[in-house]
Amino acid sequence: MEQGKRENWGSRFGFIMAAAGSAVGLGNIWRFPYLTGQNGGGAFIVIYLGCILFIGLSIMLAEFAVGRRSGLAAVGAYKSFSDRWTFAGVMGVLSAFFIMGFYPVVGGWSMAYIVKSFTGLLSVPEAIGDVFGGFIGNPVQPLIWMAIYLVINVLIVARGVSGGIEAAGKILMPSLFVLLILVAIKGLTIPGSSAGLAFLFKPDWSLVTGQTFLAALGQAFFSLSLGMGCMITYGSYLNKQEKLPSNALIVVSMDTTVALLAGVAMFPALFAFGMEPAAGPGLVFVVIPQIFAQMGGIGPLFSAVFFVALFIAALTSSVSLLEVVVAYLMDQKKMQRKPAVYGTAVVMAVLCVLASLSLGVMSGVTVFGVGAFDFFDILTDKIFLAIGGMLLAIFTGWFMKKEDLKDELTNGGVVQFGLFEVWYALIKYIIPILIGIVAFVGITSIAQKGLMIFGLLLIVVLAIFSKKL
Ligand code: PFF
Repeated sequence: MEQGKRENWGSRFGFIMAAAGSAVGLGNIWRFPYLTGQNGGGAFIVIYLGCILFIGLSIMLAEFAVGRRSGLAAVGAYKSFSDRWTFAGVMGVLSAFFIMGFYPVVGGWSMAYIVKSFTGLLSVPEAIGDVFGGFIGNPVQPLIWMAIYLVINVLIVARGVSGGIEAAGKILMPSLFVLLILVAIKGLTIPGSSAGLAFLFKPDWSLVTGQTFLAALGQAFFSLSLGMGCMITYGSYLNKQEKLPSNALIVVSMDTTVALLAGVAMFPALFAFGMEPAAGPGLVFVVIPQIFAQMGGIGPLFSAVFFVALFIAALTSSVSLLEVVVAYLMDQKKMQRKPAVYGTAVVMAVLCVLASLSLGVMSGVTVFGVGAFDFFDILTDKIFLAIGGMLLAIFTGWFMKKEDLKDELTNGGVVQFGLFEVWYALIKYIIPILIGIVAFVGITSIAQKGLMIFGLLLIVVLAIFSKKL
């Protein structure tokens, strides 16, 4: 790369695989199924799909447009408009740190489970739940896996946008699809699996509360990598010929397909074995090995294949999270890529150690009633991403010029985008109001009030003090 010239994606396929790689991750395969389980199944899925269609898709398009227009990552993109807006980008960088404060821990678990699949995990099915609890609470093992996982991320991101992130996405994403389809087919062929399909696709509205909406909205942002400048950053590496609306649609469709596929891979089997759908974050790590334990000799191989898929999905997402911080340091602080990657990863490693230990030896240490793992998770998922998305919508709708947006979304009038006015009305009026309502109702009824107030105060403090960052 020439000095000073911005990196670019090598091809359209490469960009889509990288952006879809960012979107499709632990959010789809680890978190979506357990949230669905905890929030009553079908009704949660319907609300989630509504959030994707009416909010997520438009925000993704807006992030691509802002990124490509400014040619800068989140902080720079906002800042190039006005110093006052810097905080919205800084919030994104902070979100990247928080998410990377627990994501590599779970990424590490997925690697450990590839190995565990072959080392006797499946031979005592009754003990699978206890094995998981024991493993994540262990003070050493998960940390080793987390460290290995982070090192792989560092190696990819240090190689840059097209040589590292794009190359990884092009191979890993198609493999993920194939692996997941295999597992879903297996799940559906287990006798008694139809109750799981009914749970997924027959909504029971009696379980819906304000919390369900906030959970669905937060999950939509988390799953699509929105509300923290990640897609602004990826959009900034995009060349001017690419059509933004069709790319956004493809990425959103892929992400949603994988989430539903993960549901279909898990719930039918879960019901067939008479397990509890609201099992929480351990769901994937407990249900999937149970499924494969019933398969006899080839069980371990299938189980390993599944956890390879989970690891792949996680990896292409966490590289994008790391890239958000790296791009900020390169754009705004004029750092070179490699030192930026190494420095960032060290800070993330420290956060991950806290998160991992909070599930075991440090479980007594809490802030606002939660340990470090939940602190990072809840703060980003329940506040930062949704508010980040709302700020982006307000910024795009009220502060950018409408003609500039039209120019960006139609490539200077070269391509058609018939829904421009609809998109614009959604971004300018409907989405900020919708997010405002869901956030208000959700935050006022949530159990962790102290944490929510802390998060909101943090945003205010950033808004006042982060102009110079
Ligand atoms: N979308 C990722 C997932 O579903 O696992 C997580 C994520 C990646 C969130 C990048 C936010 C982000 F900027």
